[in-house]
Amino acid sequence: MDDQKSEHHYDIVVVGAGISGINAGYRIQTTLPTSTYTILENRDNVGGTWDLFKYPGIRSDSDLHTFGFEFNPWKKPNPIATGESIVDYINATAKKFGIDEKIQFRHKVVSANWSSDAQRWRLEVENEGIRKVYHAKFVIMGTGYYNYEKPLEARIPGIERFKGQTVHPQFWPQDLDFKGKKMVIIGSGATAITILPAVVDNGVGKVTMLQRSPSYVMSVPQKKPGEKNWYDYLPRWIALRIVRIQFILVPWLLYLFCRKYPIQAANFIRKAAKKQLPKDIPIDPHFKPAYKPWDQRLCLCPDGDFFKAFESGRAEIVTDTISTVTEDGIELSSGERLDADIIVTATGLSLQICGGIPITVDNEPVDVPNRFLWRATMLSGVPNLGVIIGYVNASWTLGADTASRLLTRLYKFMQDNQYTSAVPRITEEEAKDPQVPLALNSTYVNAARNLLPHAGRSGPWLPRDNYFRDSWNAGRADLREGMMFGRVST
Ligand SMILES: Cc1cc2nc3c(=O)[nH]c(=O)nc-3n(C[C@H](O)[C@H](O)[C@H](O)COP(=O)(O)OP(=O)(O)OC[C@H]3O[C@@H](n4cnc5c(N)ncnc54)[C@H](O)[C@@H]3O)c2cc1C
Ligand SMILES: *[C@@H]1O[C@H](CO)[C@@H](O)[C@H](O)[C@H]1NC(C)=O
Ligand SMILES: *[C@@H]1O[C@H](CO)[C@@H](O)[C@H](O)[C@H]1NC(C)=O
Ligand SMILES: *[C@@H]1O[C@H](CO)[C@@H](O)[C@H](O)[C@H]1NC(C)=O
Ligand SMILES: *[C@@H]1O[C@H](CO)[C@@H](O)[C@H](O)[C@H]1NC(C)=O
Repeated sequence: MDDQKSEHHYDIVVVGAGISGINAGYRIQTTLPTSTYTILENRDNVGGTWDLFKYPGIRSDSDLHTFGFEFNPWKKPNPIATGESIVDYINATAKKFGIDEKIQFRHKVVSANWSSDAQRWRLEVENEGIRKVYHAKFVIMGTGYYNYEKPLEARIPGIERFKGQTVHPQFWPQDLDFKGKKMVIIGSGATAITILPAVVDNGVGKVTMLQRSPSYVMSVPQKKPGEKNWYDYLPRWIALRIVRIQFILVPWLLYLFCRKYPIQAANFIRKAAKKQLPKDIPIDPHFKPAYKPWDQRLCLCPDGDFFKAFESGRAEIVTDTISTVTEDGIELSSGERLDADIIVTATGLSLQICGGIPITVDNEPVDVPNRFLWRATMLSGVPNLGVIIGYVNASWTLGADTASRLLTRLYKFMQDNQYTSAVPRITEEEAKDPQVPLALNSTYVNAARNLLPHAGRSGPWLPRDNYFRDSWNAGRADLREGMMFGRVST
C-alpha cells in the first residue's frame, strides 16, 4: 500500500482485550446487537495483566467467582487461580461468545481525536509499523489502570552499584535462574507475598522479604477437589449463583467490619497470622501495619502458603529501611546487611488511565487528571468516551461490568433518542473539593494522585461505592443527570 492510510468504520471501538475489554464486548453484543464493534489490542494475546505479568506463582488475589465474568461463571473449585489459568479462562470466554472474532491483535491506539463536526472519534492506530485510521461513534477504554511500559520506580539508594541481577516483577525474565541463589524482594504488597512462597518451592537458596512497612496478610482456604458445600447438591447453575453471591457478600461484609471496627479487625487478622507462622518468626514488627485494615489492599494468600514458606528455613522477613545497596547486597538502616545475588523490586505499578493515549476534543488536548469521572465511567467534557475502571477493594471485574452495563445502556438511550453525543458536564459548585476515585491509600495510589481523574462529592460524580448500588445505577440511574446530550446530523 502507498501512504494512503486504510480507514475503518465502527459504531463502537473498544481498546484493550483484558478482562474489561472482553466484558465490554459481551455487553455490547448482547445489549446492542445491531451495532458494529471491534476490540483493538496492542498485544498478541487476550488477558492484559495476566498475559503481561509472568513472575513465579502469579495468581489472582481475588476469588474467581467474582473476578470471573458474570455471564460465564468460573466453574473450578479453587477460588484463587494462577495467572495462566486466568488467561485460559479469558481466552475461552472470548471464544465461547464469538468475541475473539472481534479482536484485532497488535493494534496499538496512538491517539484519539473527537470531532464535533463529524460527531465521531478518529483513532490513529499502529499495526506492525503500518498506520491505520479507525472512526467510531463511541470509544470504550478497557486499557486498565497502569502503565504497561514503565513500572513505579522506587528510589532505592545505590541500586546502580549492584553487580547482581535486578528484576522488576512486571518484566520477569522467563529464563531467570534463582536456584540456590540469594534473593531479596523489596516490597510488602500482593506481589512480594506471591513470589516468596513460589521461589521457596522452586529451589531458591535463600529469600528475604525486605519491607519498609508491613501489610495485613490473610489466608484464604482453597476448596479441595471433591469437597462439597451444601449448595453443590443443588442444580449446577443455582450452585454457581450462590457461590458468586457469597463471594460478593462475604468480602464486602469483611470490608465493612474492617472499616467499622479497625482495632478488632486488625487483632483478628494478626492473631490468625500468628497461628500460622513458625515460632521463630515474630509477629511484631513484621505483621504490624501502621495503617488500618483496608486503608490499603488486604493481601490474601491461598491456604496460608506465604506463612508456610517460612517453615522451609530458607525464607525470612525483615522490616527495615535501606541505607544503601552495595555491589553484592543491601545495607540497612539498623546496620544489618543482606547478601543478594538477585534483587526483586516489587515496588508497584505506575498508575495511568486511558492507556496514556493522547486525547483531543476538537483539537483541544484533554488533561485527564483535571477531569471528573461521571459515574466512574466517563470524563467531564469528553463526548462519547467510556473509561472502564473496576474496583480496587473488591474484584475489579464487578466494577468493570457495572461500567460496561451503564455505558451500553447509555449508548442504547442515545440510539433510541437519535442523540449523537453525550458529554458529562460538571458545575463549578460540584467540582469543589475533589477526591481520589480509588478507595485506597496505598503508596502507588498516592504516587498517582496527580495522574488520576477526580471524583466529586455528590450525585453522579461520587466515586464507586459498592457493587449493589453500582449495579442498580448501571441498570436504572438517571442518565441525564450531569450529562448533556447533542443531536447533530452529519
Ligand atoms: C500483578 C497483578 C495482580 C492483580 N490481581 C488482581 C486481583 O487478584 N483481583 C483484582 O480485582 N484485580 C487485580 N489486579 C488488577 C488488574 O489489573 C485488574 O483486575 C484487571 O486484570 C484489569 O483488567 P483490564 O482489562 O481493565 O486491564 P488490563 O488487564 O491491564 O488490560 C488492558 C489491555 O489494554 C491494552 N492496551 C493498553 N493501551 C492500549 C493501546 N493504546 N492500544 C491498544 N491496546 C492497549 C493492553 O495491552 C492490555 O491488554 C491485579 C493487577 C496486577 C498488576
Ligand atoms: C487462545 O485461544 C486460541 C484459539 O482459540 C489459541 O490459538 C491461542 O493460543 C490462545 N491463547 C492463549 C494465550 O492461550
Ligand atoms: C469499597 O470502598 C467503598 C468506598 O470506600 C465502600 O463504600 C465499599 O463498600 C467498598 N466495597 C467493598 C466490596 O468492599
Ligand atoms: C490527534 O491528536 C494528536 C494529539 O493528541 C495530534 O498530534 C494529531 O495531529 C491529531 N490528529 C488529527 C488527525 O487531528
Ligand atoms: C493515608 O495514610 C496516611 C498514613 O498511612 C495518613 O496520614 C493519611 O491521613 C491517609 N489519608 C487518607 C485520605 O486517608
